[in-house]
Amino acid sequence: MSAIPDTSRLRYHCQLRQSADERRAETHPLTWRLRDDGTCIQLDEYRDKQGYEAALRTLEQRSPDDVISAMKEANVRGRGGGGFSAGLKWSLTQVGDHLPRGYLVCNADEMEPGTFKDRLLLEQQPHLLIEGMIIAGYANRSCYGYIFLRGEYKEAARSLAQAIEEAQQAGLLGRNIAGSGFDFDIALHTGAGRYICGEETALINSLEGKRANPRAKPPFPGQAGAWGKPTVVNNVETLCNAPGVMQHGVDWYQGLSGGLSNDGGTKLYGVSGLVNRPGLWELPIGTPGREILDRAGGMRDGHTLKAWLPGGGSTGFLLPEHLDLPLDFDTIGQYGSRLGTGLLAVVSDRQSIVSLLRNLEQFFARESCGWCTPCRDGLPWTAKLLQALERGEGKPEYIDILEQHTLGLNPPRTFCAHAPGAMMPLESGLRHFRPELEAGIAQASMEGVS
Ligand SMILES: Cc1cc2nc3c(=O)[nH]c(=O)nc-3n(C[C@H](O)[C@H](O)[C@H](O)COP(=O)(O)O)c2cc1C
Ligand code: SF4
Repeated sequence: MSAIPDTSRLRYHCQLRQSADERRAETHPLTWRLRDDGTCIQLDEYRDKQGYEAALRTLEQRSPDDVISAMKEANVRGRGGGGFSAGLKWSLTQVGDHLPRGYLVCNADEMEPGTFKDRLLLEQQPHLLIEGMIIAGYANRSCYGYIFLRGEYKEAARSLAQAIEEAQQAGLLGRNIAGSGFDFDIALHTGAGRYICGEETALINSLEGKRANPRAKPPFPGQAGAWGKPTVVNNVETLCNAPGVMQHGVDWYQGLSGGLSNDGGTKLYGVSGLVNRPGLWELPIGTPGREILDRAGGMRDGHTLKAWLPGGGSTGFLLPEHLDLPLDFDTIGQYGSRLGTGLLAVVSDRQSIVSLLRNLEQFFARESCGWCTPCRDGLPWTAKLLQALERGEGKPEYIDILEQHTLGLNPPRTFCAHAPGAMMPLESGLRHFRPELEAGIAQASMEGVS
């Protein structure tokens, strides 16, 4: 039998860097209950800290449509990277008393390079997710919920399995939850470690036991998703926002951003790279990158910030001059990037953009599902050209070819958002750091080029 790998040393990056003294129920709805030692909160403790009050009150006092309206009004935006309104998604789901009940799927595949925010919630506070899923399942009239968990998240799997069992035994999951008449249960499904399984329709295929390639849309999952039934797919952090909205109301949720953004709520931000204190912080949405970098103790000695990815490997590079922008979906979109997961990956002046791009594109090439040709062939080609530039063996035309890829590996030529996501760091890398890429052109091939 193979031993379960020891992941305890990896907790470093997954650590919340705010102590219990800094976190309040009114201002830190996602993390105020967390323990400073990073161990998992179990049912008794969760309930002592007002846990499940929001879900039980919702089942007792609110109609499903009422819940959807509250989520819509609060403008809870999807934290999986796209920023789509959760309430709007729920309102578009084809449900009704005369229609078959569908499924709720929690996307816990978290494989975005540099991203480790859902892992914190899954490992340390699984009951908040379960509570959010009860509320979402009720609003969407789902008969069953699935948590699709990244296969490598062994510790999260243990925390979730135990929490689901605790909730079932306490009558918080299963038939007729707390006498409300609502039946809803949750199953944990672990993936086999493919990035594309995070794409919601590939995820559904994988859940059904099929090859994990994305499906054509329409129909959207809300119309016909898992096993042909209406299916809502939401990110872990998105679902963890629902209990707070139902407990404290729309105005409170919107006020959490403190005027920093038009969006409401808080966001789990984080930093990785050559900083002094990598980790996670729950902050008002719209907090500027500079504050987050300061909280991370700034760059390590001898390093200066050269660029940063605001939300994972499939977002575009921003520069130090962008550090004062509010980190929210709309603002970052206006600067040629995306908020994505909100986990900053910083690049030092001593790191090579070409090597970083080569590394990212190799990852994206390996994770292509292979369904459409531009992505299946274009991503390995991209990685190969970058590798040549990294070794100083590039040819002048490589830069043009890379540029063409950033234009061509996009819909309608590609079938899903994987290839366009892979092109974001490349396109912005070419825009901001072209001379660095050109420096990889072999001198010999420059002869005769004017
Ligand atoms: C290649 C690819 C990978 C993705 N990986 C994830 C992921 O790991 N977790 C996630 O929540 N969303 C991921 N998404 C986005 C999902 O397709 C979907 O939009 C999201 O789960 C919806 O949840 P939200 O509205 O709560 O953000 C990915 C998308 C693509 C194209
Ligand atoms: S873009 Fe890539 S990942 Fe998406 S369907 Fe095509 S081959 Fe698969």
